[in-house]
Amino acid sequence: MTRQHIVVLSGAGISAESGVKTFRDDNGLWEGHRVEDVATPEAWQRNPELVLDFYNQRRRQLYQVEPNPGHLAIAELESRYRVSVLTQNVDNLHERAGSTEVVHLHGELDLARSTVDESRLYPLKGRDIRLGDTCELGSQLRPHVVWFGEAVPEMERAMALAETADILIVVGTSLFVYPAAGLASCAPATARRYLINPELPAHFDMDGFTCIQEKAGGALPDLVKQLLSEAG
Ligand code: OAD
Repeated sequence: MTRQHIVVLSGAGISAESGVKTFRDDNGLWEGHRVEDVATPEAWQRNPELVLDFYNQRRRQLYQVEPNPGHLAIAELESRYRVSVLTQNVDNLHERAGSTEVVHLHGELDLARSTVDESRLYPLKGRDIRLGDTCELGSQLRPHVVWFGEAVPEMERAMALAETADILIVVGTSLFVYPAAGLASCAPATARRYLINPELPAHFDMDGFTCIQEKAGGALPDLVKQLLSEAG
């Protein structure tokens, strides 16, 4: 029998209980910075050192945090389901929890990429990127993250996955940032849908969703237990 396909759309909230700050819960500041000062192409043009420093700090933090019960529960689903994780997060906590199919819509903190050829990616393994670090073509390396105003190259692949979902779980995202937020509306009409967030996003049409107004670290292990027992 073919396995049912579970698609998880995750955002910063799923990593909050691991100690990673979300984007919009702190007076609109992200680790003390306005997003336009650190996460836009203009910021990079204006002050690449500040941008590199900001992401270097985020990367170092990555190595001080661990996956939480929410990430682990999603990975456990793979024992009975095909699971695709579409994450807006640039951390690697889904992979470290054991998830094997993870699409990073907004890039990955632990990769650097060339500024002249975006197919040239370099694993950092926790190392900083510094001004003067270059690719083989001699161009400065930048973080492999999608900044505001940039295209989201993984969208097409993510949409194709969402469109084949039997079950959709939307967790830990404010659903404010498009195009990623649009994936919450991409599952077939027949799919079962769950939304997990202690503060349900009021602007989003939750019709057809089972809403669980709780933190991911508590709600996901319960939901996963139920889904695993259904699958036998
Ligand atoms: P946000 O910071 O916008 O939203 C985080 C959501 O997580 C909020 O709705 C919180 O209520 C919820 N939340 C907080 N703690 C939680 C917990 N323990 N369990 C479950 N939910 C919890 O983060 P995203 O929606 O991921 O983009 O933001 C989307 C994108 O905007 C990010 O990927 C980033 C950002 O600017 C880029 O950097 C391009």
